[in-house]
Amino acid sequence: MRSVIIAPSVLTADFGRLSEAAAAVYAAGAEWLHLDIMDGVFVPNISFGPEMVRALRAATPALLDVHLMIHNPDAYLAGFAQAGADRISVHVESGPHVHRTLTTIRDLGKKCGIVLNPSTHQDSIAYLLDYVDLVLVMSVNPGFGGQKIIPAMLEKVQRVRDMVDGRPVEIEVDGGVTTQNAASIVEAGATVLVAGSAVFNGGPAAYAQNIAALKRCRQLS
Ligand code: DX5
Ligand code: ZN
Repeated sequence: MRSVIIAPSVLTADFGRLSEAAAAVYAAGAEWLHLDIMDGVFVPNISFGPEMVRALRAATPALLDVHLMIHNPDAYLAGFAQAGADRISVHVESGPHVHRTLTTIRDLGKKCGIVLNPSTHQDSIAYLLDYVDLVLVMSVNPGFGGQKIIPAMLEKVQRVRDMVDGRPVEIEVDGGVTTQNAASIVEAGATVLVAGSAVFNGGPAAYAQNIAALKRCRQLS
């Protein structure tokens, strides 16, 4: 039995104190830290780049789970790898040759993930499953924290689990995860839950309680 992994997304944390937030959520029980990279083109928001990843690498021993919401990710992979990313995930919609992108990430010595936007069919990754360490199912349209989950994504998570079919691939769900819906998401097949608002709301005093509440939702068999 393994407990579900909680990956707090710092997008909802205080940007003036990101290093402190990164250290605090690790101390509060989160093994991964989810870093949302946005370029203002692939999504209608801009967040931060490799230098912030480097700063957070120095602030926490947590596994750094980098989610690239950018066009032309190939040009930036080495930069994020050198900055200290442990995992790098790219969207299937980010370009026509994502297999090459995924292979490049592995050649850089990092784990790779493939991400599905809500409107993208799971069949689009059918030929990629032997080349990834993680499938990230977006449960909101990417760009912003604090949105409501799109309920139909639970069925997509189930279908991805069936497709993964026992491969050593994590299934991560990102967007609108709360203590109310976490159990159903894990039941559908998620092994990693990204949580921004559900971890950071309430401030540092609430982190440990928030993370524990999300983890309690269900043990993985
Ligand atoms: C959305 C990001 C998410 C987001 C999650 O584009 O990929 O990681 O920060 O935030 P919550 O948990 O608040 O929906
Ligand atoms: Zn994300």
